[in-house]
Amino acid sequence: MLAAISLKGGVGKTSICLGLAACAWAAGHRTLVIDLDPQANATAALDPLPYEFTTNDVLADGREGIAADAIVASGWGAGIDLIAGERALEHRAHSEGPDSALRLRTTLAGALDRYHTVLIDCPPTLGELTRNALAAAPAALIVTEPSFFALQAAEQALEAVDIARDATNLGLRPAGIVVNRVRRSTEHTYRLEELRRVYPQLVLEPPIPDRAAMAAAQGAAAPITALRTSGAKDLVSLFTDLAANIEEGLS
Ligand SMILES: Nc1ncnc2c1ncn2[C@@H]1O[C@H](COP(=O)(O)OP(=O)(O)OP(=O)(O)O)[C@@H](O)[C@H]1O
Ligand SMILES: [Mg+2]
Repeated sequence: MLAAISLKGGVGKTSICLGLAACAWAAGHRTLVIDLDPQANATAALDPLPYEFTTNDVLADGREGIAADAIVASGWGAGIDLIAGERALEHRAHSEGPDSALRLRTTLAGALDRYHTVLIDCPPTLGELTRNALAAAPAALIVTEPSFFALQAAEQALEAVDIARDATNLGLRPAGIVVNRVRRSTEHTYRLEELRRVYPQLVLEPPIPDRAAMAAAQGAAAPITALRTSGAKDLVSLFTDLAANIEEGLS
């Protein structure tokens, strides 16, 4: 189980979750995406069948294992499921007492046994929702773009992982830093090299390039693996390698 985090918005957390989910699923692994973002972008892209409960309901309820009741099938096909997000999650962005960051972990207890791959899509802040994800997941995937702010953003995200480890989740590890939306510009090449220099053990290979196919798949509410364009095929091959490297780093 991986939580995709970044304290910065729009760097591609959702896109990386969806890309990894699509490739895991296409490889035959049972996959679950947990949408913890009030924007619910992952939910829209996974095109779920009608559902009654969301992560908001799960967190409000708080009972052990109750998340199992909120699992719904994605419209992508058999073998990939979702716990949907919704706007009302905004009301859970603040702490509600000492155990409030542990609610997701409690509700997921025993609910994930049949999944090989579980991805939690987080909102772009270090509020209570991201803290819940970091308390529940054994590893955090840090997503960044190769921009001027990339180093600072990665540093802050790693700090957040350290804080969560001390506060709630002793086994929590960084799964690495995914660099997303890389273009062939001097600036991007420089920022990517800078990240690799500062975090040689953490920057994950391969970086994910900027490709129109990413947005096209999301717009069609389809997995990237269903698109036949050369851009989409490139992305599938890169995500497959990325997933293998993440798994190897965590094993
Ligand atoms: N590698 C890529 N190539 C092209 N477009 C991309 C790529 N990654 C992300 N995008 C596009 O950039 C936009 C932001 O991506 P995404 O929603 O995944 O970011 P996010 O970090 O989840 O944002 P938020 O912080 O709002 O949750 C989306 O329109 C997405 O389609
Ligand atoms: Mg997102």
